[in-house]
Amino acid sequence: MIIHRTHKLVLLACIIGCLTLIAAAAIEGSWLPKVPEKDRSRSNPYENDSQATLVGKKLFQQHCASCHGPTAEGKGKRPNLHSETIRNAKPGELQWLLTNGNLAKGMPSWSRLPEQQRWQLVSYLKTLQ
Ligand code: HEC
Repeated sequence: MIIHRTHKLVLLACIIGCLTLIAAAAIEGSWLPKVPEKDRSRSNPYENDSQATLVGKKLFQQHCASCHGPTAEGKGKRPNLHSETIRNAKPGELQWLLTNGNLAKGMPSWSRLPEQQRWQLVSYLKTLQ
């Protein structure tokens, strides 16, 4: 009987663990598999361009800080962008996300910004550690 109860607890702990993992996966990077290959492989014309990074930082303050926080550290359910997901994301993948958004999850599309500005935002995102 005691063993039986322990088994139940172990099972319950496993289920809770799994649900937590699924929830974490849903919050970070759930959009990555949706990026088409042709977008993924695009390169940023402003890569390592310090001027573009500065402009991107300003654009971030204007358009993104209200949700992601002034230093991109995240707010509530809005993710911290100093993350492994963003560090590992390819510039083309970030450009795709900014263009399309992830509307169902609350991330708007930024297709109304000129593409150049989206690349500048990508340059800035790539400086976050
Ligand atoms: C209205 C609030 C809001 C604004 C404004 C906003 N975002 Fe987001 N953003 C979100 C939410 C919510 C998510 C999480 C979506 C999800 O669960 O996949 C997100 C996700 C992201 C991600 C992916 C993070 C990850 O770990 O998968 C990036 C990158 C990002 N936003 C960048 C930006 C940039 C750059 C801007 C400004 C141009 C911006 N966001 C403006 C709400 C916002």
